[in-house]
Amino acid sequence: MKMTYDDYKMMFDSFNSSEGYYQACKILSFDSLWREKEDYRNKMESSIKETLNRLGKSKMRGADVCCGDYAWVPRHFSDYFSDIYCVDIDSRALDSEVVRVKKNCIVLNQNADQVDIHVDFLFSGNNVYEYFILNIANCVNPNGTIFLMKPLEGDDISLRSISKGYDINQRNSESNKISNLLSKYFKTSEKEVVFNWDYSNVNLDRLLASLSVVSFGERTLFDDGQYAKSVDYLKKKCKGDTLTLTQICKIWEGVKDG
Ligand SMILES: C[S@@+](CC[C@H](N)C(=O)[O-])C[C@H]1O[C@@H](n2cnc3c(N)ncnc32)[C@H](O)[C@@H]1O
Repeated sequence: MKMTYDDYKMMFDSFNSSEGYYQACKILSFDSLWREKEDYRNKMESSIKETLNRLGKSKMRGADVCCGDYAWVPRHFSDYFSDIYCVDIDSRALDSEVVRVKKNCIVLNQNADQVDIHVDFLFSGNNVYEYFILNIANCVNPNGTIFLMKPLEGDDISLRSISKGYDINQRNSESNKISNLLSKYFKTSEKEVVFNWDYSNVNLDRLLASLSVVSFGERTLFDDGQYAKSVDYLKKKCKGDTLTLTQICKIWEGVKDG
């Protein structure tokens, strides 16, 4: 596996735009086999069906907050919803094919801490932050469901800490604050799950450049020292030409008080 800083930098530059960001998201989402994707999908679907049963409805109003261009709820579950609010601060995410094709999507180009909607099922995955929890909690109707997923640990987070000195503990502290805030309004269950992504025939420069624009808090071009440390780290995660990236994520599932 030949890697060079110049290749990494060239790819970083190509992803370092609003359009490039979503290209990098697609590489991270689709160029791999996500081993537990079906389990995650099933968990979300059970939660949606339980919500419909609890409310005695055949369809409900839902929201996918910080939907990104993958847009989980419209992509996999649109038939369970009369309308789905797709909320993202970046308008390009809302121009994704899935959001355009599904006819029940309502696009809201807003910050999650400002959005003012009322839904029976609210999903937010990956980018879940304490600063908007109270606002999105207010968006869920009585007896409705909130379903959140946030990575707590993982190879992308370790890379961020090795290369940029990011403090991993702040994630656990934020996660505890999220649990406390949710417990004021919801009967919540929480669970930690392990996710693995296998990238076969991986181009490590391309993958590291994708992580650098999507996964390190803000777009971050590593200098050559940070690049060398990251390459060492990633090479240890490879078996042959397959790289496996792992995350431990927390899933919160809560039913709003009646
Ligand atoms: C990694 S992407 C998509 C994640 C997607 N929900 C998933 O589970 O795969 C994260 C998205 O969150 C959006 N985002 C981040 N902070 C936000 C905020 N405060 N309000 C709304 N959207 C936000 C970004 O613009 C980006 O499109």
